[in-house]
Amino acid sequence: MRRPLIAGNWKMYKTAAEAVGLAAELRDSSHRQGVEVLVAPPFTALSAVAQVLRGSHLLLAGQNMHWENEGAFTGEVSPLMLRDAGCTHVILGHSERRQLFGETDEGVARKAKAAFTHSLTPIVCVGETLAERESGRTMEIVERQVERALRELTADQVAALVIAYEPVWAIGTGRNATPEQAQEVHAFIRKRVSASHGEPAAAAVRILYGGSVKPDNIAPIMAQADVDGALVGGASLTAASFVKIVQYE
Ligand code: 13P
Repeated sequence: MRRPLIAGNWKMYKTAAEAVGLAAELRDSSHRQGVEVLVAPPFTALSAVAQVLRGSHLLLAGQNMHWENEGAFTGEVSPLMLRDAGCTHVILGHSERRQLFGETDEGVARKAKAAFTHSLTPIVCVGETLAERESGRTMEIVERQVERALRELTADQVAALVIAYEPVWAIGTGRNATPEQAQEVHAFIRKRVSASHGEPAAAAVRILYGGSVKPDNIAPIMAQADVDGALVGGASLTAASFVKIVQYE
C-alpha cells in the first residue's frame, strides 16, 4: 500500500545547464509504473529543471529551506520560494546540514511544520554516526531525531511524510548498511511513529534508506518489509546509474 519512492539528492553538484541535461535524460528514461521518482537539484537549478520536468512523472525537491516565508535571512530560501520554483518536496535535516551547518532537531521540526503549511512534502533525514553505532546508541539517536522532528505534526501530516534513514557512516563511503541493518532501524522508526501518532500514520509513512545506494545493492534493500524507497546521492548524478536504481529488480 505504500508507494515506493526513489529520490536523487544531487547535493552541491551541477550547474543549471548540467542539471537540465540530466533532468531531461531522466524524464525520458526513469519512468516505472507504481514508483515515484524525485530529484533534488541545487537551488540555482530548480526553476530550469522544473520547466524541463513539467507534465512528466518526476517530482522536484529542494535540499533545505528556512521556516519563514520571507525576511532578513541572508543566504536562506523560503518555502514560498521553493513552491514558486516548482518544488513539491523538500529534504530536511540531512546529516551534512546537521554536521557541517549546525542544523538542529528544533530547526528541522520548525521546517517540517512550515513545509506542510505550504503543501511541500518534507523528507526528514535521520541517522547515527559510526561512533554512535559502535557504542550501541543507534536506536536512541534515531528515536530522538524522529521524535523531535515529528513533535509538532498531526497524524495526517505524519502519514503524508517521508522519513529517510541515512546512517552517517554509510553516506558517500561505499559502505552501505546491510538490508538487515536497514530493516531493523526502519521497523524501529515505524514502531515509534505508531506510539506517537497512531497505527494508521505509522502504516502510511514512507521510510527511505540512504547511504551508498548503488544499482548493485538496491534490490535486497528494497526487499525489506519496512523499506519504502531510497535516497541516493552519488549514484543519482548520472542517468545511467540512477535509472538502473529506479528499475531495480
Ligand atoms: P551517497 O548515496 O552518495 O552515499 O549519499 C547518500 C545521501 O546522503 C543522500 O541524501
